[in-house]
Amino acid sequence: MEQNRRKSEQTDSKNKFFRYNKVISNNIHNRIRCRMELYEAIYKRRTVRDFEDKIVPEEVLERIINAGLQAPTHDHLRNWEFVIIQDKKDKENVLQYIKKGIEPQLEILKQILTEGTSQQKMYAIAMPRQYTMLYNSSHIILPFFRTNSGVLNPTSVSSLNPLTSIWCAIENIFLAATAEGLGCSMRIPVGEEGLNVAAEVGAPSDYLLPCYIGLGYPAKDRSDVEQAEYNAKQKIHLGKW
Ligand SMILES: Cc1cc2nc3c(=O)[nH]c(=O)nc-3n(C[C@H](O)[C@H](O)[C@H](O)COP(=O)(O)O)c2cc1C
Repeated sequence: MEQNRRKSEQTDSKNKFFRYNKVISNNIHNRIRCRMELYEAIYKRRTVRDFEDKIVPEEVLERIINAGLQAPTHDHLRNWEFVIIQDKKDKENVLQYIKKGIEPQLEILKQILTEGTSQQKMYAIAMPRQYTMLYNSSHIILPFFRTNSGVLNPTSVSSLNPLTSIWCAIENIFLAATAEGLGCSMRIPVGEEGLNVAAEVGAPSDYLLPCYIGLGYPAKDRSDVEQAEYNAKQKIHLGKW
């Protein structure tokens, strides 16, 4: 009788042990699987400048912005706001300033295209699309960050923290969009463009626009930019440069 009781106790604890190990290995498996998905998004992300005529559902848009809001931030602030534009007329209003900025850029393009490095090939694809890669997107995302006097007159790298922080959020947005099967274009406002766009959408005067983002479903026949290959071995300097 006593022998049977002990045997049953042993079997019980053995079962518990295996159940416990199974939970642990499932967790590890999930963690590894998640990490693999992240790496896949990192490697798949590309700047997309040609989109299908298809609207991204609101809940997907929210997931992507939420991913942006998980980014690290200086001073624990996350002083970020996102204006999102879908309506074609509103897009035209916001993008009118790009048209004025593009003309001089296209002139530069004509000069540099004679040489044909991979950077110049990128310009050849990117420059003529600065307007359409936003206008033809499903949604234009305008990320805004709250600035301070240091950002536009920096005295050290840390003066740029508000700008640096929002770029962490922007990269999260790009990766989340990729994980959703979407793509993003981006344009940095030139000259007065950013201030004009901020005024157009009614942003408070202490908020700046670091870039425009065009979000949408990548067109199947889009023009892909040739990518140079890099790897860590070429870039790591162990202990000393
Ligand atoms: C700071 C920054 C500024 C950029 N500005 C523009 C821009 O004004 N217009 C544009 O079409 N792409 C812009 N890009 C996208 C780059 O052209 C693109 O990231 C680069 O060619 C590498 O290609 P990939 O994103 O497909 O890897 C910018 C990217 C960064 C990080």
